[in-house]
Amino acid sequence: MSRVYNFNPGPATLPLPVLEQAQQELLDYHGLGMSVMEMSHRSKDYEAINNEAEARIKRLAGVGDDYRVLFLQGGASLQFAMVPMNFLHGGKVGNYILTGSWSEKALSEATRLESGPTHVAASSKDEKYMRIPRSDELQLSDNPAYVHITTNNTIAGTQWHTLPEVGDVPLVADASSDILSRPFPADKYALVYAGAQKNLGPAGVTIVLLRESWLQEAATSIPAFLQYSTHAKANSLYNTPPSFAVYMVNLVTKWIEDNGGLSATEERNQQKAQVIYSAIDMSGGFYRGPVAADSRSMVNIVFRLPSEELEKQFLSEATSAGLVGLKGHRSVGGIRASLYNAMSLEGCEALAAFMQDFVQQHG
Ligand SMILES: Cc1ncc(COP(=O)(O)O)c(C=O)c1O
Repeated sequence: MSRVYNFNPGPATLPLPVLEQAQQELLDYHGLGMSVMEMSHRSKDYEAINNEAEARIKRLAGVGDDYRVLFLQGGASLQFAMVPMNFLHGGKVGNYILTGSWSEKALSEATRLESGPTHVAASSKDEKYMRIPRSDELQLSDNPAYVHITTNNTIAGTQWHTLPEVGDVPLVADASSDILSRPFPADKYALVYAGAQKNLGPAGVTIVLLRESWLQEAATSIPAFLQYSTHAKANSLYNTPPSFAVYMVNLVTKWIEDNGGLSATEERNQQKAQVIYSAIDMSGGFYRGPVAADSRSMVNIVFRLPSEELEKQFLSEATSAGLVGLKGHRSVGGIRASLYNAMSLEGCEALAAFMQDFVQQHG
C-alpha cells in the first residue's frame, strides 16, 4: 500500500486509523453481519452511532443541553439559504462580513429572499480579501437578525483569530474549513455550520451546532425539511440520513478525543502551519504569501511562485514526489496547501523540504 501526502482542500485526507477501522468494520459492524451502510437508520445500533457522534461534538465544543448538534445534508451551500430562511424575518436585517467568495455566496443566498433585507457590516473585498477586517471597521445595521462570518476562508487563505465583537446579536459562522481544528468559544455562536469533508469526515453530512434558545425564534412557515426545528425534533432522523458519513464523523471525532482534544489539535495544527510558513518566509522572496501576517490561516496556506510556469512545474514535481492536491483554487491560481486535522506533521515537513529543494533548483 502506498498512501500519498494529500493536501486536497476537501474532500480531504482522513486519519489512517479511522480508515483502517472503517475497513475492518465494513463487512460486519459489531457482529451484526452487515455494514453501517446496510443498516436501517431506525435501528437501535444506528441510533447509537448518531447519538455518540452528537455527544462527541458537544463534548469537543464544550457545550451542554443549551446547544443542539444536527446532522443535515446539502453542504454548507444549503446552510447559506437555511440560515436566512429560518432567521431573517420580522423586518430584521441579515448582517454579513465579507471575507471571501464563500461569504459572498452566503450573502447572495440571503438577498434572494424577500423575507428580510441584508447589510454588509464589513468587507475586505477591496484588498482582494487578503486580510480579515478589524473590529473597528465593523458597522452593524439597525435591528440586526444576526451577523454572519466565515471563520476560515478556504480560497483566500485567511482566518479569524479573534471573533468580531457583536454584543447580543446572534453570531452565525460558516466554519466549513476550520471546524474543530482548534478550540472554539461555542458559547459566542448562535449557530455554526460546516460540511464534514475537510476536518471531520467524508462528504455528505453537514454539521450544525445551534443554540437551543435561538432555535425557538426560527421560522415555521417554510417547508418542513428546511426548518432547523424539524431536524432538532427528530434528532437528525427526520428522513434517511447520510448514515455512513455520520458513522465516519463519529470515528474521526473519537480520534480527535483520543489524541488530546481540541487544545492538542490546535497545537499540532499551529506547528504544522509554522513549518510551511517558515518555508515561505525563508525562501528569500521565491515563495510569496499574499495574506496579511495577522490573518494567515492555519489550515489553508496559499502562496505564489515567481511565474505561472514555475507553479505548474512545482505542482507536477510535487505530485511525482507524492505530495498531491496543492493546486490553488481555480479562481485565484497559485499554490494552496490544506493542512486539515488529519494531515500529519511529517507530511508538512516533507512539503517544506520539497519547497526548499525546489528553490535551490529554480531560485
Ligand atoms: C468556507 C466554505 N464555505 C462553504 C463551502 C461550500 O461547502 P459545500 O460544498 O459543503 O456546500 C466551502 C467549500 O469548500 C468552504 O470552504
